Amino acid sequence: MGKRILFTGGSGKAGKHAIEYLIAQGHRVLNVDLVPLELDGVETMIADITDSGQMFNVMTSYADWDEMELGTGVPEFDAVVHFAAVPRILLNPDNETFRVNTIGTYNVIEAAVKLGIKKVIIASSETTYGICFSDGRVNPKSFPLEEDYDVDPMDSYGLSKVVNEHTARAFQRRSGIDIYALRIGNVIEPHEYDRFPDFFVNPEQRRRNAFCYIDARDLGQIVDRCLAKDGLGYQVFNAGNDTNTAIIPSADLVKQFFAGTPITRTLGEHEALFSNRKIREMLGFVEEHNWRKYVKT
Ligand SMILES: NC(=O)c1ccc[n+]([C@@H]2O[C@H](COP(=O)([O-])OP(=O)(O)OC[C@H]3O[C@@H](n4cnc5c(N)ncnc54)[C@H](O)[C@@H]3O)[C@@H](O)[C@H]2O)c1
Repeated sequence: MGKRILFTGGSGKAGKHAIEYLIAQGHRVLNVDLVPLELDGVETMIADITDSGQMFNVMTSYADWDEMELGTGVPEFDAVVHFAAVPRILLNPDNETFRVNTIGTYNVIEAAVKLGIKKVIIASSETTYGICFSDGRVNPKSFPLEEDYDVDPMDSYGLSKVVNEHTARAFQRRSGIDIYALRIGNVIEPHEYDRFPDFFVNPEQRRRNAFCYIDARDLGQIVDRCLAKDGLGYQVFNAGNDTNTAIIPSADLVKQFFAGTPITRTLGEHEALFSNRKIREMLGFVEEHNWRKYVKT
């Protein structure tokens, strides 16, 4: 049965595709953002995640006019999906990125937990692994990048996401509800596959992402599978596709672009260095949008 979901940041690059996917699965969604989303059947409540009062308020709101007709009061949300954020460094001063992302996430999770909402899914990031926004050309401690890695970013955005994972864990321990953090890979929208041929000519440009990507629609599937899977407590999941944004085999990518970095288990020929094994095994994720469907090599 469809769930009633409050989704923050749904007007953005990743959120709009995830919401479209969730609506197609029969869920009801209220979007909370600073700007509206133009999508039939989804209202946007303009609200700021850095304002705690606004977060408590939107989570006790009707999703649209029709819910008033029942005369039984405001229905409860089944889940909160929290994507709203400053999505990288170099958009705002570093301290503002850190402030919006950490305070915003604290406010969203606190309101959800204190209002009795039983599931929260938050957007963390591949940047927690400390390669993406590092000063200089940094190698990770090992490949593949998996969820038990000792994350160690050196930038304000990556750090804000690590703090958010700790915030999520703390609220989960106190409440016992399910809070899942998705370390989202580099998001690729359907129209962006035309960038891939250039990735293959100049693979260096994908090094800071450890060659990862997540198709925006497959990200929708991952969110939906998180909504469907109850009882896991606090979890961190890499949200990426099965293979790299490269035509060079994985082991050769490591040799050429991360020389000396140990590989801790046998990798498939093109298996993603940013591993999605956990979502496949624990959530049953099956990718639908491998880049090979859209790009000729
Ligand atoms: N795009 C990527 O490749 C990528 C990779 C890893 C993680 N993420 C994370 O995924 C999430 C979505 O990223 P995106 O690429 O869609 O970013 P985006 O900037 O396109 O969307 C973010 C949305 O959040 C909203 N927002 C920002 N500040 C807000 C505030 N104070 N109150 C309410 N809404 C606010 C924005 O208006 C925007 O619509 C973010 O948490 C981001 O950090 C993105």
